[in-house]
Amino acid sequence: MNDRRAETSVAINELVATRWSPRAFDATRGVSGAQLSALLEAARWAPSCVGAEPWRFLVWNRATDAAGWQQAFDTLSENNRKWADRVPVLMLVCTGATFEHNGQPNRWAQYDAGMAALSLSLEAVHQGLATHQMGGFDAARARAAFAVPEDFLPMTMIAVGYQAPAESLTDMDIRHKELKPRGRKPLAERFFGGQWGASLKL
Ligand SMILES: Cc1cc2nc3c(=O)[nH]c(=O)nc-3n(C[C@H](O)[C@H](O)[C@H](O)COP(=O)(O)O)c2cc1C
Repeated sequence: MNDRRAETSVAINELVATRWSPRAFDATRGVSGAQLSALLEAARWAPSCVGAEPWRFLVWNRATDAAGWQQAFDTLSENNRKWADRVPVLMLVCTGATFEHNGQPNRWAQYDAGMAALSLSLEAVHQGLATHQMGGFDAARARAAFAVPEDFLPMTMIAVGYQAPAESLTDMDIRHKELKPRGRKPLAERFFGGQWGASLKL
């Protein structure tokens, strides 16, 4: 299998090191109800500002709701549709624009939804699954198709399933992306010591 384990500068835990966003998914292997429950439970236990849990996840399992899955798939951008046609489960992550308890704007809601999505993604690795988040989808179309209320923002779609070999991707551009080495900016470009831009002594 195509291993895209992170080349970390120091040893870190396996879940973070091995999570990545593949495009090659195995269309013949579904995600069980127990696995989906575990993924959603991991998202549920993410932290959130004042414990508001502003996220909402919509889930389409192709095995049990092919029509819903197709509607969700149809909201994806052309580029994402090139590879996501083999994905057994699609999800939509939405987040609340206001706090439920006082109606005030919640400027941390997107941060919270991202943490829930990462928590879900790490649990997916633990379950032997892979996730691939997609900002490339038509949010207005998704809002209309799935009755997302006005005060919730559709943030990302997430593909969930078992990874397949890169060779299963027939589109050569997509296969090339799949095989590209993963990388990150050097630590010093993104992490500072005390003041913006200052180097961090560890
Ligand atoms: C909010 C968000 C939106 C993304 N949108 C897309 C997308 O539309 N299509 C895609 O192929 N990947 C998308 N990605 C995946 C990123 O490209 C990927 O996470 C990044 O390149 C790092 O790669 P890695 O997840 O394998 O570490 C998105 C990721 C995030 C977090």
